[in-house]
Amino acid sequence: MNQTVDKGKTLLVDGPASVTVGSGRVEVFGSPVRHTHKIVIREGKRLPFFVAEKTDFDVALGENASVEVVDGDTIPPSWTESLSVLKGLQKKPAVAMIVGKADSGKTSYCTYLINKLLSPKHKIAIIDGDLGQSDIGPPCTVAYAFISKHLTELYSLKAENAFFVGATSPSQAPDKTVEGMALMKTEILGKTPDFILVNTDGWVEGEDAVKYKLRLAEKLEPDTVLCIQRQNELEPLLAVLEKFVKTVVESPSAVKQRGMEKRKNLRELNYAKYMIDAKVRALPLSHLRIEEENVALNKLDEVKGALLGLYDSQRKFLGIGVLHEFDNVRKTLKILTSVSEKPAVVAFGKVRLDKNLRETASSGESEPVRV
Ligand SMILES: Nc1ncnc2c1ncn2[C@@H]1O[C@H](COP(=O)(O)OP(=O)(O)OP(=O)(O)O)[C@@H](O)[C@H]1O
Ligand SMILES: [Mg+2]
Repeated sequence: MNQTVDKGKTLLVDGPASVTVGSGRVEVFGSPVRHTHKIVIREGKRLPFFVAEKTDFDVALGENASVEVVDGDTIPPSWTESLSVLKGLQKKPAVAMIVGKADSGKTSYCTYLINKLLSPKHKIAIIDGDLGQSDIGPPCTVAYAFISKHLTELYSLKAENAFFVGATSPSQAPDKTVEGMALMKTEILGKTPDFILVNTDGWVEGEDAVKYKLRLAEKLEPDTVLCIQRQNELEPLLAVLEKFVKTVVESPSAVKQRGMEKRKNLRELNYAKYMIDAKVRALPLSHLRIEEENVALNKLDEVKGALLGLYDSQRKFLGIGVLHEFDNVRKTLKILTSVSEKPAVVAFGKVRLDKNLRETASSGESEPVRV
């Protein structure tokens, strides 16, 4: 389908869809889109194509996809204004932590900031701390990446390293999540970045959530905390983060909201992405270090289907796996994984997946936690 959109308007596309830009000039989250370049919008996602010069689009829509033209730019002016805060930070590296509720636009805001900060002078890293809706590493991990070119979504980045938490929300493993994020930051610091952006999960409301975010901020010591707020849901958190420099920005009205079920589906698609062509591999226990307290390997009922994080001996994250079986006679773990290297460490997660890589009820994704 061809569609011409006038200057100053935005084409909002809900996936699954693909968009090719013909003549004209277009930006997605601050990234210029090249002519003839095809952009794929995954199911459950929305991308805004802001038209700076009258543009012809070629749009292919999948099942339940849709397209709409709205007036103006859907990027809030406060996003643009906050750039000067970041650029004005004198410290190297400047560390900015992004907080906001689920579906507030955190990932898109990070994408926008990266695109606008990108220059040959700036080495930019991002830590993805959103376990449940991870953009960079597999679900249930925190991960980091460096950015060298404009991007329309963080999902296209390749993780330099990751830390396996094994839960879909930090509320189920706060210590481990903080530990993982701090480790990622330390590793990045060794690579002399100019900016480190830290994206976080959407657990921001309630006493425990606020305490957790404060702990995280104290550990990561951001130079500024960028807070995306829709109404006043971040007020208690803002009060607790009193000693930090904060900037509040708007949550765009064009954000696409997703329910718990949709989020779970998106996560399951993401497990599948990291388990492509997975095979069952037998690993002798004698050559492995098992991480996680209270793993009763002899109680297969309890551990079968456990999501696993695999590392090499240098603690480089290799990928995820799922426990298929424990052979008590041969003392071997049988793991379904697409990792071909030999892991030295296997970390057990709380999440359980069935044979279709669907999360089972015992995955502990209990309310009121939204991930
Ligand atoms: N300014 C915008 N204009 C149009 N669509 C937007 C805008 N900001 C975000 N979106 C879309 O809304 C959806 C949710 O945004 P995003 O993923 O950035 O939120 P999030 O807070 O990171 O969500 P999560 O809690 O799932 O991590 C995405 O599909 C995104 O592309
Ligand atoms: Mg996100």
